[in-house]
Amino acid sequence: MILVTGGAGFIGSNFVLDWLAQSDEPVLNLDALTYAGNLANLASLHGNSRHVFVHGDIGDRALVDQLLSTHQPRAILHFAAESHVDRSIHGPGAFMKTNVEGTFNLLEAARAYWGTLQGDAKANFRFHHVSTDEVYGSLKPKDPPFAETNPYEPNSPYSASKAASDHLVRAWHHTYGLPVLTTNCSNNYGPYHFPEKLIPLMIVNALAGKPLPVYGDGQQIRDWLYVKDHCSGIRAVLAGGRLGETYNIGGWNEMANIDIVKTVCALLDELRPDPAGPYARLITYVTDRPGHDRRYAIDARKIERELGWRPAETFATGIRKTVQWYLSNAEWVANVQSGAYKDWLAANYQAR
Ligand code: NAD
Ligand code: DAU
Repeated sequence: MILVTGGAGFIGSNFVLDWLAQSDEPVLNLDALTYAGNLANLASLHGNSRHVFVHGDIGDRALVDQLLSTHQPRAILHFAAESHVDRSIHGPGAFMKTNVEGTFNLLEAARAYWGTLQGDAKANFRFHHVSTDEVYGSLKPKDPPFAETNPYEPNSPYSASKAASDHLVRAWHHTYGLPVLTTNCSNNYGPYHFPEKLIPLMIVNALAGKPLPVYGDGQQIRDWLYVKDHCSGIRAVLAGGRLGETYNIGGWNEMANIDIVKTVCALLDELRPDPAGPYARLITYVTDRPGHDRRYAIDARKIERELGWRPAETFATGIRKTVQWYLSNAEWVANVQSGAYKDWLAANYQAR
């Protein structure tokens, strides 16, 4: 089996669902169920004996040791993290705890477990670290996209914590020989995306007739990738990636935030027209994010050259599927919007 950390979050749950749809190999899913973890994402796996869910923290060494020795996974896919930049600005402590200390704990547990393996089991074991393009910092308009050789220049507490975790993973390979793989991916979007992030927030706010808060001038650029393409990229790297290497994963799809928001509005106008008028009337420019990175873009030629991976979706097909998913899953949206979600909206948006 494989051990997935953070498999109740946005990307982790998409990964688990896709994995079990395509493979007989069971998944052990370790997730602390923070505000971002949601078992409703995995509801379709209810009663599926190939999915074993464990509610726990990657920082709990005794628990991780026990899970590894009992289940003997052939790989660890490490998704668990605090993932939202704005939250890292409001409170960086949790990011250091999970992203840095938690990854350190997992690496140490993996190293001890790997040390007990022998023969093929030892040779084939993999620790796959799921990371982000934000570790490379911010690009100028004419800079080439991020290659794996770019220097690390993280600018937010979130990206600094992910950069630290990438360095730990690299060091555990270099010093102890732990068989690691790292992927650095661009902005994902798709089903089960928590509505604190740009695209799902715009969809749910528009449907509720609320303002669509665009930070600063809205000209910041991100490289958007449909989440299921990220999952297929991770599977490709797990299967054939070279040990100790990093692979950038991206959608070849640079877009300014304001154009993303206008695209979402246009799709909603088509699929769920509002009698009050076009959704774009709700666009509201608000105070910028402190330290806001201007541009990210991924050079994904290495994963294509070595492993033959390319995204299956264009932005046009992926964003249409995404908007349709949110329209068809109002109950999921209502559930995640209860309770602490309202406190976050007040903390992040009221003062802007
Ligand atoms: P998410 O916030 O939606 O989910 C994170 C999951 O990790 C949640 O289920 C949460 O409960 C769990 N978790 C948090 N702390 C934990 C802990 N201490 N122990 C166990 N579980 C814990 O995040 P996401 O967007 O799905 O991102 C997953 C990974 O992919 C992260 O490592 C992130 O840095 C990386 N990534 C995300 C994107 C993106 O666009 N969302 C892009 C590139 C890389
Ligand atoms: O690049 C990969 C990263 O993408 C991941 O590592 C992170 O986990 C993920 O959260 C994402 O980070 P971003 O900061 O780019 O995503 P977010 O959806 O928060 O914001 C996207 C852009 O939209 C960014 O430029 C900020 C802007 N924005 C965001 C929100 C929430 C707004 O203009 N208004 C908003 O309300």
